Amino acid sequence: MSRRLRHPNDSGQYDDLTDQWWRPNGALAMLHWLARARARLVPPASRPDAVLIDVGCGGGLLAPHLAGKGYRHVGVDLVSSALTLASAHGVRVVRGDATFLPFADGCADVVSAGEVLEHVVDLRRVIAEVCRVLRPGGLLVLDTIAATPLARLLAVTVGERLPGGPPPGIHDPALFVPVGVLVDECARHGVRLQVRGLRPRLGQLVRWLLTRQGMVDMVAGGPPWVLYQGRGVKHEQGDERHLKPRLAAGRIPARVEVVNG
Ligand SMILES: C[S@@+](CC[C@H](N)C(=O)[O-])C[C@H]1O[C@@H](n2cnc3c(N)ncnc32)[C@H](O)[C@@H]1O
Repeated sequence: MSRRLRHPNDSGQYDDLTDQWWRPNGALAMLHWLARARARLVPPASRPDAVLIDVGCGGGLLAPHLAGKGYRHVGVDLVSSALTLASAHGVRVVRGDATFLPFADGCADVVSAGEVLEHVVDLRRVIAEVCRVLRPGGLLVLDTIAATPLARLLAVTVGERLPGGPPPGIHDPALFVPVGVLVDECARHGVRLQVRGLRPRLGQLVRWLLTRQGMVDMVAGGPPWVLYQGRGVKHEQGDERHLKPRLAAGRIPARVEVVNG
């Protein structure tokens, strides 16, 4: 692995890491653990030809975990070297930017946004795009890093010094994702997102750090203070249940009130 000096969050870093994507115990090991946890949120397809759009698919690590679930797995990413690998693992790939997804409205049964939202500069725009391409009744699954001091400490200060942790400089912590913004923006675009914390199983992590062998299970639950997972269904027309939590809390964003009259 040769890595050049790059700015934090420079997507060129994934070119430098090309040989690491498919090494389960390499520099991107944790992405393998996260992909497995994310895939657990995806049920088998409910119809033939169901489409799953994998936003920021990288090297396609989700692919083996979707095998047998019946989706056409379509990946979109900025980085060509990663897309080449994803394609070799059965993903139908499109080079594109999550800010302007090259897909029609409502074309996806499932949208997956794994470990990508914390890399985008215009978070609100990307959430809007992710929700736009999801069909009514479709499922959004995601995981990302919280915009908290604890996440900054664990994912950057500590994590970047650990093998298997985020490669140094891969994150710009200023782009970490505030849970409230994510949930509110999804609600604004018709997806009632439920979130929960996500962490590596401690004993397995210690064993992995000592041996660099085997997988580490990601455990879901608890507060979304560092890594967290989200899952939400896009509302069908006339179904306003996605608005209830914000209405009840009196914190519904102004534009939702306008959109829903
Ligand atoms: C941490 S990797 C995660 C890859 C994959 N989702 C996974 O979990 O294995 C982040 C990926 O998001 C991609 N990415 C970052 N910003 C993007 C954007 N604006 N549009 C599309 N892809 C983007 C990067 O190129 C990279 O492949």
